[in-house]
Amino acid sequence: MKDMHNRTIDYMRISITDRCNLRCRYCMPEDLPSISHEEIFRFEEILHICRLTGKLGISKFKMTGGEPLVRKGCMDFLQQLKELPDTKQVTITTNGVLLKDHLPDLVKMGIDGVNISLDTLHPDTFYQITRRRDFARVIDGIMACQASGIRTKINTVLMKGVNDSEFWDLIQLAHDYPIDVRFIEIMPIGYGREYQGYDRDTLLALLSSRYPDYQSSCEIRGNGPAVYVTIPGFQGYIGFIDAIHGKFCHECNRIRLTADGLLKLCLYYNNGINLKKMLREGADDEKILSAMQDAILHKPSEHQFYHSAIEGGEELRKMSQIGG
Ligand code: 5AD
Ligand code: SF4
Repeated sequence: MKDMHNRTIDYMRISITDRCNLRCRYCMPEDLPSISHEEIFRFEEILHICRLTGKLGISKFKMTGGEPLVRKGCMDFLQQLKELPDTKQVTITTNGVLLKDHLPDLVKMGIDGVNISLDTLHPDTFYQITRRRDFARVIDGIMACQASGIRTKINTVLMKGVNDSEFWDLIQLAHDYPIDVRFIEIMPIGYGREYQGYDRDTLLALLSSRYPDYQSSCEIRGNGPAVYVTIPGFQGYIGFIDAIHGKFCHECNRIRLTADGLLKLCLYYNNGINLKKMLREGADDEKILSAMQDAILHKPSEHQFYHSAIEGGEELRKMSQIGG
């Protein structure tokens, strides 16, 4: 459906858990209380909502977390999501630790794409960033994923003094394998505020110093705001997601469902509608549909990162609680 700002909203990111088996420093502290069993939005409740959003033309879904693969039953859920009458596309985003084990199921259900977070190619740096020693499992997962024929993308958050020296090595992955490598500008949400990132223009200038013959691609590969370039001889694309400097709010196509059952209209704002409460209090489909329709119509026109004059509305949750 279209919102008030004439944007077509057709994509929903579904966070199925706020738990994670890594502890990336820009995302989470070592200890963070997680949503209780009763408060978590049940899979059948999520599917109920997705059946309704399908009627509004929101039929492309991404399963996120925390780390979605840590939630029991996530493969059955994905399968059912794939099979809903209006579903056009189902993708997941994962840290890759448990990916290899789930690949046979993902291939069988015909998953439309997998995004894996990978910030470094060094086991020690991986430990520094994630506080866990799972580097080898992640790499195995990525390699097996691309080899299985699933469309595979890597998401990298490049941070000054942490992993920025690995820019060229990470790019090389897109040469050696049919993998898109995307650099995400770090967002000043929660612990992300403590790091300095890179915007697209800086990285493109760097890229052209070694690959002056790179070409911008008009192709949209997925649902996202990524801008892609191709480099001759490379199998995958290089992408840049520049949420802060290259503000793409005017073409935003997405809404979010949080793991505790809120429909969130914009990553930045903390308001939304409590679908869990509505469902559990027995609201009928018509009522839920019209509440969603109304909320989407009034989706905020843009985020306000770096405009802290705004009072009251800023999201205070951590990234793992929202789903990236
Ligand atoms: N800014 C940008 N990206 C972030 N992620 C987590 N926190 C932030 C942040 N503050 C990324 C993860 C993962 C994706 C789900 O979100 O690295 O790739
Ligand atoms: Fe987990 Fe992703 Fe947060 Fe890292 S960034 S702690 S993998 S949710």
